[in-house]
Amino acid sequence: MCGIIGYSGTANAVPKMMKGLSLLEYRGYDSVGLAAQVGDEVKLVKCKGRIGVLEEKLRDAPVEGSSCAIGHTRWATHGAPSDVNAHPHRVGGVTLVHNGIIENYKALAGALEAQGVVFASQTDTEVAAALIDACYRRTGDPVAAIRQATAHMRGAYAFGILFDGQKGRIYAVRRGSPLILAKGQDGYYIASDITALLPFTREYHAMDEGEIVCLSGQTATCYDEKGDTFTPVFQKTTLTPEAAQKGGYPHFMLKEIYEQPRAAAGCVSPRVNAAGLPDFSADGVDAAFLSGVRQVHIVACGSAVHAGYLGARFFEDIAGIPASVYIASEYRYHPPLSGEKTLVLVISQSGETADTLAALRYAKEKGLPTLAVVNAVETTIAREADRRVYTYAGPEIAVATTKGYCTQVAALWALAAAAGLANGHADADTARAVVKGLVEDAPAAMKTMLAQRDTFAAAAKGLADHEHVFYIGRGADYALAMEAALKLKEISYVHCEAYAAGELKHGTISLIEPGTPVLVLATDPALFEKTESNLREVRSRGAYVILLCREDAAVTADAADRVIRLPQTSPAATLFAALVAVQCIAYETAVFLGCDVDRPRNLAKSVTVE
Ligand code: F6R
Repeated sequence: MCGIIGYSGTANAVPKMMKGLSLLEYRGYDSVGLAAQVGDEVKLVKCKGRIGVLEEKLRDAPVEGSSCAIGHTRWATHGAPSDVNAHPHRVGGVTLVHNGIIENYKALAGALEAQGVVFASQTDTEVAAALIDACYRRTGDPVAAIRQATAHMRGAYAFGILFDGQKGRIYAVRRGSPLILAKGQDGYYIASDITALLPFTREYHAMDEGEIVCLSGQTATCYDEKGDTFTPVFQKTTLTPEAAQKGGYPHFMLKEIYEQPRAAAGCVSPRVNAAGLPDFSADGVDAAFLSGVRQVHIVACGSAVHAGYLGARFFEDIAGIPASVYIASEYRYHPPLSGEKTLVLVISQSGETADTLAALRYAKEKGLPTLAVVNAVETTIAREADRRVYTYAGPEIAVATTKGYCTQVAALWALAAAAGLANGHADADTARAVVKGLVEDAPAAMKTMLAQRDTFAAAAKGLADHEHVFYIGRGADYALAMEAALKLKEISYVHCEAYAAGELKHGTISLIEPGTPVLVLATDPALFEKTESNLREVRSRGAYVILLCREDAAVTADAADRVIRLPQTSPAATLFAALVAVQCIAYETAVFLGCDVDRPRNLAKSVTVE
């Protein structure tokens, strides 16, 4: 979602803003802007649209001589994308950028309007700026103003703020939305995530809830929630600047698809012990803990919840533990039955998804043990969960997840095997086979699929001009079908639905017309015959059928228009090969249709609002 960057130091601030903003693009945005201190003035440049529009504005009216600036990419929530709604917002002596949502902004705006404030935009952010300005005028002290103003705000926020009269200083505060302070050779920075700062520095401090920071060129002063100052501890990210570059690929999404063989192995290998068995004790998830789990609630959003549907199957099949899956935004409204031995397992690539975080906090309030499967390290979900398993996929820049999802599935599969081993439901051979499947067979199978990109490009052409596309499958294939359908529709805008293969005939089959593409996932030999019957049902109604099945599946020549064969070294090999196939089909369809693959319309990478 929205992105923040700020810099105060000895170097020219505007080029740093532009570079940082370009690295925040991946989060998804519809307007962009910056504010730079120049002498005693604050210069504001902002616009609807992409960074190129901002660059043009700066070419026409350059902002020079600034070494202290804040910048922002906005993903609209309150107020349409427009020049006036773009950040930074300036009210009186306060200029700020904001991530998050001030939920009670209407009440705050009403009170401020009664005092004569006139708002120019439709945003909650301008209301926050006006409130901080009112407090600054009363106190003359930025930190006191921030504390007073935020005490009246409900919701989530990360602010980067310039105060008039505070030359060379940026103030920042966060609650609910992430923000980091970073230390470079030539000054200090703030950013919504470290990716934006990789060309400048790798040393960062993740700000805590309610923390306030004042940074200048030489110093950074941190205030905890109570107002006491403390010395921040900086850590070094292992990410390199290359991690945020395309490395020769036309899109980040394709690069990330190709990274999956290494990512899956890299996620599981550190959790394999000398006996070749899954072992998460270094993550604080040891056999004693796992053997006590009697029930699992898996809670997540979007693709992560799709990974959860597979995860639930793994926990039930391999560990014999009943597992239910919940969409995070619904978890609190229908509190599921749980006992004290219910583990709430949340899954999140970004570690910042607001709905997942809210569900996690709800589970903690109920006193349930929590475990987070997270990719981005040191993020709010990772920090707040009782235990965390990092998926080590590295930064995912494309908005549509690929390697994030892939590693979530791998981690859940290995975790379920560890749980089965711990509670005695699985024997060592079973657990060892799971690990081998994930570390060896799946990466090899994914590579095999990646060598056949032409096949996927050809399949994609058959989908591009259709009103409806369907993915169908049974069992684990149905769970994968959900991810496949989401992938296709979110980046190519071709409407696609996933159906349990047996369910289509209970209504939706009426949408099948001659030529309607139906992609049939049939990777499980035990379910192949039944799925094939469902394939026949749609084929006899004229559907254009693409079948994805194992190498040994007995497929007659008339069964499908196109057959994509998948390696069958192990169940993991087949499943992950199918994953790569559906991702590549979505990718090639989007490329064929000329879509903005890495930044699909209306979407944000990290969804930090509920
Ligand atoms: C789809 C996609 C989203 C995310 C969802 C959860 O490609 O990326 O559906 O999976 O927004 O995000 P995280 O995993 O960051 O919590």
